[in-house]
Amino acid sequence: MTDTIAVLGGTGALGRALALRLAHAGHPVVLGSRDAARARASAAELRETLSAAGVEARLDGAANEDAAAAGEIVLLATPWDETGESIAALAPALAGRLVVSCINPLGFDAKGPHGLAVAEGSAAEQVAALLPASTVTAAFHHLSAPSVADLDRDLSGEDVLVCGDDAAARARVVELAAAVTGRPGVEVGALRQARVLEPFTAVVIAVNKRYRTRAGVLMTHVDPTRPAPAPKAAPQAAPQAPA
Ligand SMILES: NC(=O)c1ccc[n+]([C@@H]2O[C@H](COP(=O)([O-])OP(=O)(O)OC[C@H]3O[C@@H](n4cnc5c(N)ncnc54)[C@H](OP(=O)(O)O)[C@@H]3O)[C@@H](O)[C@H]2O)c1
Repeated sequence: MTDTIAVLGGTGALGRALALRLAHAGHPVVLGSRDAARARASAAELRETLSAAGVEARLDGAANEDAAAAGEIVLLATPWDETGESIAALAPALAGRLVVSCINPLGFDAKGPHGLAVAEGSAAEQVAALLPASTVTAAFHHLSAPSVADLDRDLSGEDVLVCGDDAAARARVVELAAAVTGRPGVEVGALRQARVLEPFTAVVIAVNKRYRTRAGVLMTHVDPTRPAPAPKAAPQAAPQAPA
């Protein structure tokens, strides 16, 4: 599968890192920014890095709206926007797209990192509410941008946890994760699971600080490279007794 991937917030740490890995894996990538020139400059830098690694990548930069319109799959690698304004403005360009929220609403204080309360439950659900004409999933919350940006670093021991309400969309993102880490993502259920995935990043960051490392998440006893068994049929409702 060589879907064109748009990365909004593509000039940031995570956006650039994901774009690098996805382009390295052969996906055409369009970096998005609020400033098209900044996106083009970032794309040129990444092309240079990839060229040095022997990969002639199809990687370009554009304003967020144009990148969104060009992508079959659109990654949101922007900071959490409590007002939702920046996402809502992109709704027309994102209509019909598979959107992947990588957003972690986090705060940092004297006690360390912590998840922030989001009125909709999670940033991903906020995004879904703002983009009714898009299919919204969430993934890539727990990867560390510097690790992803280091093409020599083996990420195949880390799981990308993928949630979303649309099974086909989840399956596409599971496959996309393999282009980033070398290992398919793990489906963890409906979009509301983002209420758990997003703040759990605070735990990962706390571990990283305590142990001076870049920890990843791994689900044991799951082999995402093997097809998951078909879901069990829902139990039949008991027949109603006649009144
Ligand atoms: N860094 C990580 O390791 C990591 C890992 C997993 C998930 N995440 C999540 O990914 C998201 C991005 O993190 P990051 O560390 O890459 O942040 P970052 O380095 O600050 O970059 C985010 C990019 O988003 C754009 N941006 C900033 N404010 C914006 C706004 N109000 N509206 C639209 N675009 C805006 C900026 O690009 P322009 O100015 O060019 O538009 C910026 O380069 C966050 O939600 C974070 O929680 C990060």
